[in-house]
Amino acid sequence: MKTKVVVWLGFILTAIGLAGLFAATAQQRTNAPAAAGDGQNSMQQMMRAMMSGVVPPGVKPNDLPAPASAGAKLVARYCVQCHNLPSPLMHSAAEWPGIAERMFQRMTMCSRMSGTGMMGKMGGVGMKGMMGGTSGNAMMGMMNVKAPSAKEQEIIVAYLKEHSLKSIQPGALPSPRTKGAILFAATCAQCHALPDPRQHTAQQWPQVVARMRQNMVTMGKTIPNAETLRAITEFLQDAARTKP
Ligand code: HEC
Ligand code: HEC
Repeated sequence: MKTKVVVWLGFILTAIGLAGLFAATAQQRTNAPAAAGDGQNSMQQMMRAMMSGVVPPGVKPNDLPAPASAGAKLVARYCVQCHNLPSPLMHSAAEWPGIAERMFQRMTMCSRMSGTGMMGKMGGVGMKGMMGGTSGNAMMGMMNVKAPSAKEQEIIVAYLKEHSLKSIQPGALPSPRTKGAILFAATCAQCHALPDPRQHTAQQWPQVVARMRQNMVTMGKTIPNAETLRAITEFLQDAARTKP
């Protein structure tokens, strides 16, 4: 019990220290005085930067499909509290419910931790589930995380599924035994389900593959060599959608 509190305090102090450091650097960079509430903001910014390896940067609220819909607005509100804004295209309709559920549980846990009584609850809740072994989770507890209501959760899941990545079973690929198909299946299902080649035209695929290469850099995956990427791109172009 005592040791738990000590470890906790360690995490929290580290988090506060890091946030202070980050705020100071951010301030130096912009040369602007800190506005009220900046502590919270810079903590979130730092968190997102630290978490670029799980959700890469680059998606803005207006880039979301149907940006004016209730689902897009809820995603843009709740899903940027710990990491960059995730695109619904990052996962297939089959993958999203499980991932969203994991995120909802985290948000609920963190929202209970933040605010008053955090210290009092530390012993009771237990470190394991809450911390997941990283000081990042301790920071999440301090960021005043809000959790969506049950109704909002339903809207979020429906939105993510509706605008999800179109996936395909490896066996359903055209000419699944060719070198290109095999490299594609091995390379392109590391972060999400295997994408259906028919969701883009031959003209569109090279750009998408180039962006995925960048995602692999950001997310710390092994980068395929140029020849492999060329074989994958050619395979995708052959199997692509023919209508523009
Ligand atoms: C309380 C902090 C927090 C919030 C809020 C949060 N996430 Fe996450 N998210 C995490 C953490 C931590 C990870 C890395 C560990 C993991 O994958 O579970 C992560 C990872 C992810 C990943 C990458 C992992 C994967 O399986 O691809 C996706 C996608 C994601 N979150 C989507 C979402 C969505 C959608 C929302 C809003 C409904 C959301 N997150 C809100 C903490 C959060
Ligand atoms: C390192 C993780 C990672 C790997 C490996 C990866 N992707 Fe992705 N993929 C993402 C992320 C993140 C998104 C959502 C953000 C985006 O679109 O850049 C995404 C989204 C997509 C989308 C939907 C977006 C769109 O523009 O249609 C397609 C299609 C896609 N990936 C194809 C591929 C292909 C093809 C490969 C193999 C060359 C691949 N992915 C490998 C991370 C990855």
